[in-house]
Amino acid sequence: MKKLSFLVAAGLLFGCTTTQTVQVPQEKEPKIKEIGEATSMKLLKTLRGELLNAMQQGGPDQATEVCSKKAMTLTKQIENETGYSIKRTTFKYRNPANKPDKYEEEALNYFEEAIKSGKMPAYYVQAIKENNKIVYRYYKPQKVEGLCLTCHGDPSLMDPNLVKKIKTLYPTDMAVGYKEGDFRGVVRVSIPEDKLK
Ligand code: HEC
Repeated sequence: MKKLSFLVAAGLLFGCTTTQTVQVPQEKEPKIKEIGEATSMKLLKTLRGELLNAMQQGGPDQATEVCSKKAMTLTKQIENETGYSIKRTTFKYRNPANKPDKYEEEALNYFEEAIKSGKMPAYYVQAIKENNKIVYRYYKPQKVEGLCLTCHGDPSLMDPNLVKKIKTLYPTDMAVGYKEGDFRGVVRVSIPEDKLK
């Protein structure tokens, strides 16, 4: 009996601090999708606009500066505007700040598995319970386009100065060697339960 109550107490204790994924209630999915899609598109459109602008003005060299300094600032800005936490993440990251956590890894695996069987899902949703609070996560996949190869393509075909610059800024860069159409990663939008309105 004593042992049992100890186990129950320990369970409660750990129960309070564990984080785990739980089932996403079906009726919540449309709203998660609506917020997640709008928020991730807002980031992607903003980044693309900045990127094209910088490429036109100063070429890929200057655009790399923009990417490395501005991507994070713009993400923060959109987080503040929308109130949702956002992150771009991938297995082969350039910026170590974009390294996936274990739930993001689960989402990335979901897309990679689907792609292996010839499908490309439009999104993935997750519910994570921490300290009895639920946070929903929306993941939007991103594909590599021709434009991206300037900085994420085969390094032997890239501008040597740019390759050097990227190596200096990101010594552990893994985000090269992509081809058009490859799965690049996801935009993750976190939506706390009480903001799902
Ligand atoms: C001018 C160079 C340049 C171009 C063009 C470019 N990127 Fe990047 N990309 C970077 C740099 C530098 C980083 C690292 C800084 C950061 O966190 O954004 C990065 C980071 C990323 C990340 C975050 C994950 C990671 O690897 O750290 C994703 C996702 C990404 N790029 C996708 C794309 C896609 C998709 C395109 C084409 C639409 C693209 N990039 C075009 C330079 C570029």
